[in-house]
Amino acid sequence: MEARKPSSPDTDLNRVSPVNICTAMCDSNRGIGLGEGFPWPSLKGDYEYYTGLTQRTSDPSMKVVQIKGRRTWMLTGEKEKDAASVINVIISSTLREGSHRSLHKVVTSFDEAVHYAVSGPRRGEIEAIWVMGGTHVYENAINHPMCQRLYLTRVFGTFDADVFFPKFEEKFKKISDLKVDGEPREDNGVRYQFEVYERLREMV
Ligand SMILES: NC(=O)c1ccc[n+]([C@@H]2O[C@H](COP(=O)([O-])OP(=O)(O)OC[C@H]3O[C@@H](n4cnc5c(N)ncnc54)[C@H](OP(=O)(O)O)[C@@H]3O)[C@@H](O)[C@H]2O)c1
Repeated sequence: MEARKPSSPDTDLNRVSPVNICTAMCDSNRGIGLGEGFPWPSLKGDYEYYTGLTQRTSDPSMKVVQIKGRRTWMLTGEKEKDAASVINVIISSTLREGSHRSLHKVVTSFDEAVHYAVSGPRRGEIEAIWVMGGTHVYENAINHPMCQRLYLTRVFGTFDADVFFPKFEEKFKKISDLKVDGEPREDNGVRYQFEVYERLREMV
């Protein structure tokens, strides 16, 4: 098989990877986390959905970048950390780059994470960029013009939480995406549904 050629600055300008947010949020209080995990019991269907979505590439030789804060990275399971299609870019001022075999890059800000994905040495093999949380990482993405889509799992019910998803409703509108069905589902007695949002055009 022919080795992938490093891309030139010209081709990079023509092929900018999309930046997407992936999250699951409690409908009643915007909660996304509690302690060392999610506020709700395990949702098998959501796990399969979001791991598929955020690890998928259309070309098997390509990769996705996942951007996470340090806590979210530390709470990620080993199978997810080691997914072959994923380049893990973690925002932290305390983590060391060699501290895990699948920790590919440590940066100190969201902008630096996006810059690495778009302009770093591996830019030619990156098909998409996924923003995986937590709160400040999501907030940075919601305010970043390159971030066009938000894939949200809306979880119904009341669950205590200590980490919350920022307001996004004034910047994004709900769309239908043929690849995502928005039908209500249920696992472990908890109802949830998949929703897709797109950034509104700025009024000038
Ligand atoms: N429901 C969901 O979809 C979802 C998704 C992700 C996470 N979660 C939950 O959310 C919680 C974790 O989120 P969290 O908000 O507490 O933590 P987090 O963002 O994952 O990690 C916080 C740490 O990341 C670094 N960091 C994050 N944003 C930064 C920024 N903008 N600039 C510089 N450094 C930054 C800092 O690391 P240093 O201290 O090392 O400098 C900070 O202490 C967990 O409960 C997890 O289960 C839920």
